[in-house]
Amino acid sequence: MMYKLYDFPVHGDHSGKLVALEKGADFPFEIRRVYYIWGTDKDVVRGRHAHRKLEQMIICLSGSCDFILDNGTKRETVHLNNPAQGLYIRHNIWREFTNFSPDCVVMVLASEPYDEADYIKKYSNFKELARGGG
Ligand code: TYD
Repeated sequence: MMYKLYDFPVHGDHSGKLVALEKGADFPFEIRRVYYIWGTDKDVVRGRHAHRKLEQMIICLSGSCDFILDNGTKRETVHLNNPAQGLYIRHNIWREFTNFSPDCVVMVLASEPYDEADYIKKYSNFKELARGGG
């Protein structure tokens, strides 16, 4: 499985919309870190790495962007533009994200604290790992 899209339950009426994410009920992992990204120019490419262990749920809270996912064998692009949808990515998936709308805000919920050692930053190393070489 390269990724999974979650459709979160939306509480909505005339006063607006709300999504609540609770441990267990909606979530495949325990959240240990939250970060968010905004103010990125359209053509910037972020990411360009994989993780050894980290699981993430990526939610585009405002605007839109594209996630390009690669499992070492195939590549897929997922367009995110819905704050009620979560893109779940496990470890060992190379990701790049780009095509940011001016109002794009991306929130990432992560299974582990920040750890530089968890990053695989060289595509050739990622390919080797994906092939089962380490
Ligand atoms: P980086 O992971 O390279 O961002 P992206 O994958 O979105 O392109 O992180 C950018 C910078 O922010 C880098 O200096 C590391 C720092 N950072 C933290 O300090 N904590 C974090 O949780 C994250 C995700 C990044």
